[in-house]
Amino acid sequence: MKFNTTENTRTLSGMRPTGKLHLGHYHGVLKNWVNMQKDFDCFFFVADWHALTTSYENPETMREHVWDMVIDWLAAGVDPEQATLFIQSSLLQHAELHLLLSMITPLGWLERVPSFKEQQQKLKDKDLSTYGFLGYPLLQSADILMYRAAFVPVGEDQVPHVELTREIARRFNSFFGKSPDYDRELDQAISLIGKQESDQFLRYRKKYNEQGNRSAYQKAEVLINNQEQLNHEHKQLLIGYLEGRAKALLPEPKALLTEAAKTPGLDGQKMSKSYDNIIAMRDEPKRIEKSVREMPTDPARVRLTDPGDPDKCPVWPLHQIYSDSDTCEWVQSGCRAASFGCVQCKQPLIQKILEEQEVISDRAKPYIQHPDSVVEIIHEGNKKASLVADQTMDIVRSAVGTNYL
Ligand code: TRP
Ligand code: SF4
Repeated sequence: MKFNTTENTRTLSGMRPTGKLHLGHYHGVLKNWVNMQKDFDCFFFVADWHALTTSYENPETMREHVWDMVIDWLAAGVDPEQATLFIQSSLLQHAELHLLLSMITPLGWLERVPSFKEQQQKLKDKDLSTYGFLGYPLLQSADILMYRAAFVPVGEDQVPHVELTREIARRFNSFFGKSPDYDRELDQAISLIGKQESDQFLRYRKKYNEQGNRSAYQKAEVLINNQEQLNHEHKQLLIGYLEGRAKALLPEPKALLTEAAKTPGLDGQKMSKSYDNIIAMRDEPKRIEKSVREMPTDPARVRLTDPGDPDKCPVWPLHQIYSDSDTCEWVQSGCRAASFGCVQCKQPLIQKILEEQEVISDRAKPYIQHPDSVVEIIHEGNKKASLVADQTMDIVRSAVGTNYL
């Protein structure tokens, strides 16, 4: 799909470097990235500036966290031949776009982003009444708009940030979208459609703009998309005209909600470093075995002969992720009938996690042995990302009028 269509499949996602990733990241995010990279034009990046907005007090850990995280991506099967991997702070264009977008961003929009107040409440030990923290979602908008991405795979908590990005794009387009050549470009695009059809298009447009008629909009859109003599630029221009905005300089991205249920941690809560309940992607097998063996189980099962209830046991949700349906049935009936103990119940689970972990650590091995190869991958990715970022900044600078030289 990525190479044989003109449809925009550009996909962008970022992750803050918080150190070694765990199975929650693997099941919740990375497996999805790996699935997407074949069919979509994927850009995945290390959001190190984002990390600084909340962890500016410990810069010494950043370097290690960045490289550990990239190795975890590669270990999960993210393929640098298919996806572009880069580091945010290597592309200064992000800072410039963030700054330029800040000119048109109403303060209220940022203050209303739910994560702003939530995180300030939650991370009480940190001073987050900073300019950088308020601007966090706008920096994220800059990340996304920089690649003119169509899709942004994110978890639920990030959806409001993508929503903000759409609003920012709309505002930017309506302020700056009308380039000096706009009228001429528009005339030219319209002249490429036959007379009859362009008249029809203009009638649909009028109906949509004056009466808000959705079906007129849809018919006009189909009409444009069916004109094979029009290139992507022309079509964008005409769709922008149809919508009553001058020109979509920065397209509005869509959030792709990552559906994977939250991976349960060792104590049954969501797996998270702050709950100290994780299995790291590259934990030693012995440690994984020990962690699972020590997991709490249904408190009703004091003795081997006490029946239990998997629904009250944190081991069960992990079985649901890892075990086949036969094993799951075996767990359900054996637990309720007390026909085996918890140690035995955990055994097939440990086995499955270790099998998966072996694949992951085998993939990681060459990168750990040759850290230079990881640096090289990022260098290449930075270069590719930079090509796109430079194009976008050309568009943006000429739109805001700072393209003097
Ligand atoms: N804010 C995201 C998070 O905390 C990370 C992020 C930064 C991001 N920029 C992005 C995600 C752009 C998607 C797209 O997880
Ligand atoms: Fe949990 Fe399995 Fe023990 Fe039942 S038998 S309580 S599901 S570990």
